[in-house]
Amino acid sequence: MAKPRILVTGGTGYIGSHTVVELINAGYKAVIIDNLSNSNKDALDGIEKITGLRPDFVEADCTDINSLTALFEKYDDIKGIINFAASKAVGESIEKPILYYRNNLNTLMNLLDLMPRFGVKGIVFSSSCTVYGEPDQNPVTEAAPIKKATSPYGNTKQISEEIITDVISSGAPFKSVILRYFNPVGAHPSALIGELPNGVPQNLIPYLTQTAMGIRKELSVFGNDYDTPDGSCIRDFINVVDLAKAHVIAVERMLEDKGEAPIEIFNLGTGVGLSVLELIAAFERATGVKVPHKIVGRRHGDIEKVWADPRHANEVLGWKATTSIEDTMRSAWKWQQHLRETGIM
Ligand code: NAD
Ligand code: WQD
Repeated sequence: MAKPRILVTGGTGYIGSHTVVELINAGYKAVIIDNLSNSNKDALDGIEKITGLRPDFVEADCTDINSLTALFEKYDDIKGIINFAASKAVGESIEKPILYYRNNLNTLMNLLDLMPRFGVKGIVFSSSCTVYGEPDQNPVTEAAPIKKATSPYGNTKQISEEIITDVISSGAPFKSVILRYFNPVGAHPSALIGELPNGVPQNLIPYLTQTAMGIRKELSVFGNDYDTPDGSCIRDFINVVDLAKAHVIAVERMLEDKGEAPIEIFNLGTGVGLSVLELIAAFERATGVKVPHKIVGRRHGDIEKVWADPRHANEVLGWKATTSIEDTMRSAWKWQQHLRETGIM
């Protein structure tokens, strides 16, 4: 039986484009809405080259309810939504809080508002391990307390989770799966899609691969005096293709009414904490390329250590991160080389 159509907001972005590939591979029809504020249409070419199918694309802003309404009227077979569209730079959110609250919350509220009218049965929401702040213990389960957000960005994720809960508690006729990502890294093994950071990267992997490429002089490691075995921070680096696959399972679960609760929350991580210095070593081991780096002071606001307990997703979704960190690092490097070869960077 033909599978239904899924609306992917932010589908030309980093995680969205990888998820569209997996949706198409699983037989779903996809339509992307993206305002291209942090991505470009090259992702559509990449998706087409990988899957042999070009997803439908609507260039529009999700905060504009009229554009969204027109999209639902045109595509009257949409049964599920995956909502990636959001602004995601933590530092920028501190400088421009209104932009973040407006973009991230209005996007979500518009979608929730329109879902019943157009018979959409479920929405997958991109949340983040940022909701746990500095956890009391690792690995973190979904039952860990939500800590006060340290940035407007983080706060939009907490408020979004509450909005979804309130709307569904009010009797809205749809389900939701909230996915809390740990640190998504790497790229599709084809190197036809990947992460496109704007300007100087704030996140570790794009800075690392740009340094390995010689675009940046050296990588600053923010602190070696944390209470961790080597003194650098610990994170759970989750391969982006593994992450994307979890969305397909979540969609299927909502549409086939498999879950009992109308809202389900899952951590998406590997369950393994890796330090920043261990990650640099893994990259060097996997690629044979040295990454010039130096230890500098701590970055304000960084969490010391956080990694996932992914057992809930493993057991209930039947999903598990399977890609090794070496393969993930090779994919990140191949993507950086692709950006060089195509003259993008
Ligand atoms: P991304 O910036 O690559 O993708 C987001 C996409 O949404 C971009 O293509 C952007 O152009 C689009 N967009 C933004 N606002 C829009 C709007 N109003 N209307 C239409 N399109 C809009 O980011 P990503 O890394 O792929 O993240 C996807 C989601 O996952 C985001 O919600 C993000 O907060 C969340 N998340 C990301 C990470 C991470 O480290 N990358 C971790 C946890 C959660
Ligand atoms: C990882 C580690 C840095 C850059 C952010 C958001 C979080 C989530 C994922 C969306 C830290 C260190 C980094 C560098 C370094 N996003 N680092 N030198 O901060 O864990 O999480 O992305 O929801 O909300 O906060 O990711 O990649 O910035 O940092 O030493 O140049 O690498 O100190 O320990 P982070 P990151």
